[in-house]
Amino acid sequence: MNTTQNKVQKTNDFNEITYGRRSVKLYDPEVKISREEMTEILAEASRAPSSINMQPWRFLVVDTPEGKEKLAPLARFNQNQVLTSAAVIGVFMDMNNAEYLEEIFGKAVEHGYMPKEVADQQLKVVKPYYENIPASDLRDVNLIDSGLVSMQLMLAARAHGYDTNPIGGYEKAQIAETFGMDKERYQPVMLISIGKSAKEGHPSYRLPVDTITTWA
Ligand SMILES: Cc1cc2nc3c(=O)[nH]c(=O)nc-3n(C[C@H](O)[C@H](O)[C@H](O)COP(=O)(O)O)c2cc1C
Repeated sequence: MNTTQNKVQKTNDFNEITYGRRSVKLYDPEVKISREEMTEILAEASRAPSSINMQPWRFLVVDTPEGKEKLAPLARFNQNQVLTSAAVIGVFMDMNNAEYLEEIFGKAVEHGYMPKEVADQQLKVVKPYYENIPASDLRDVNLIDSGLVSMQLMLAARAHGYDTNPIGGYEKAQIAETFGMDKERYQPVMLISIGKSAKEGHPSYRLPVDTITTWA
């Protein structure tokens, strides 16, 4: 993918995308997002950086009435988002993502992004690292990467003229199995509703930079 504006994007105005973003809880239920456009949005999101380029994120796109029906009871305090949005995207992390190591490094070599010697050398270090990493450390790494892709997804959605809401209020223990996914392997990170807003999101306060920053 090149870095120029995609043909189905509505805007590449950074201020509009970033400062215009608000968590939207109510959507126009008539507005659907085609799977073609959703694929573009997910491809743009997946340009996010990740630790050793491992890309542990996985997406469950719930865009059918049947899917929404399954999801709604798992997100009881976020019913409006589930029922009115064009889709709800479940962001998961694949705890067996090391299975893709060879593909990620192999394709980098094939495309000329990385010399073969460098890929071989890195694989020698990275493979044993993933074979021996404690589960809680792997979870930390995967959560950081999945947080980055989630943010990029919300900004990509804005570029396509859609609104989103990140959602942590859902039944995390049940979501994978409800959709036939292996719950040990695919662990939930957050839900993101996406669609066209029917009611503007509330403005929200941000702590001043002075409070959140230490200079050294
Ligand atoms: C990880 C995460 C979980 C969230 N969970 C919910 C949720 O369950 N329901 C909801 O309405 N908003 C949820 N939010 C949205 C936040 O309340 C919102 O991002 C915050 O108040 C700032 O507002 P803004 O997104 O409009 O800038 C969540 C946000 C994040 C990042």
